Amino acid sequence: MEWWRCLFVGMVMLMAAGSGEAQLSPTFYQWTCPNVESMVREAVQKKLSQTFATVPATLRLFFHDCFIEGCDASIMIASPRHDAEKDAPDNLSLAGDGFDTVIKAKEAVEEQCPGVVSCADILAIAARDVVVLSGGPSFTVELGRRDGRISEAGRVSGKLPGPDFNLELLAWIFGKNNLTLFDMIALSGAHTLGFSHCSRFAKRLYSFTPSSPVDPSLDPKYARQLMLACPENVDPNIAVGMDPFTPNTFDNIYFKNLVNGRGLFTSDEVLFTQLLSRPAVYNFAVNQESFFTAFASAMVRLGRVGVKIGDEGEIRRDCTAFN
Ligand code: HEM
Repeated sequence: MEWWRCLFVGMVMLMAAGSGEAQLSPTFYQWTCPNVESMVREAVQKKLSQTFATVPATLRLFFHDCFIEGCDASIMIASPRHDAEKDAPDNLSLAGDGFDTVIKAKEAVEEQCPGVVSCADILAIAARDVVVLSGGPSFTVELGRRDGRISEAGRVSGKLPGPDFNLELLAWIFGKNNLTLFDMIALSGAHTLGFSHCSRFAKRLYSFTPSSPVDPSLDPKYARQLMLACPENVDPNIAVGMDPFTPNTFDNIYFKNLVNGRGLFTSDEVLFTQLLSRPAVYNFAVNQESFFTAFASAMVRLGRVGVKIGDEGEIRRDCTAFN
């Protein structure tokens, strides 16, 4: 290349870097750690062969990470004083297998590419992998996130949706994270996997309103099943499958359940009872492909929430501690 052309290209690259306009990109580690995705997949597969809980736990961990301080692995930090993000009440039910998956994958990646790949990116790749490994859609993960330097239990309150949220609140909290109502409905389809503790929906069974103790939007047969699994004052450790039919498969049965009054949380069932969101639920219930397409695109958009790029944050060596 002629010298003046070199100079021009160099200047353009410097300007782009200086303006902080660096973007996430699927090829971010192309030169620095080209096999990162296969290393993560292998670690996820190994962990999955030990326990299926790996799947729901990792997917939920990604969601909680992104909604608190952005997708920056702040959820991974362990604090001896128990005052990190993961110690906040809203995060106490995150299953340990999700954390373990990221820790194991990071260890494998560090062996080949020390100090290069962020924990935030490893979590994003692992979240995609568990969806694929349980039968869900594949999609390309954007990379280049940096790890955050803030992880405080006190900053969690109000950032995550609750199981008793109505549609307006759900739309509002996802909207704050640049996600649409449609994204929110698709992402809720993650509840096709995993478990919930009885306390999260007991009100719908025993004390919905004084005149109607059982939530009338619940299918009565399903309500009776839930009451059997979760009697009043049940052991707080008891959990039930959120999709009673195929709890270990990523499919669209969650949406069929909603149509039949079998949404476990109020925040699930409102997606069907409210007219604004009902058409999308119907569509996803009859057309799994359309759910998969919407879910994949919403996951990519979730992965962009509040990301740190360029020289922000750090590349943590150990996902559970700041450098
Ligand atoms: C729409 C608002 C949402 C609410 C109100 C909500 C609430 C909850 C609650 C209360 C639980 C049960 C926790 C327990 O008792 O252990 C749960 C579990 C779960 N959530 Fe959500 N969630 C929402 C959205 C999402 C999203 C967007 C994802 C992922 C993309 C997700 C993935 C999961 C998974 C996979 C589980 C099962 C976890 C396990 O078995 O370890 N949720 N959610």
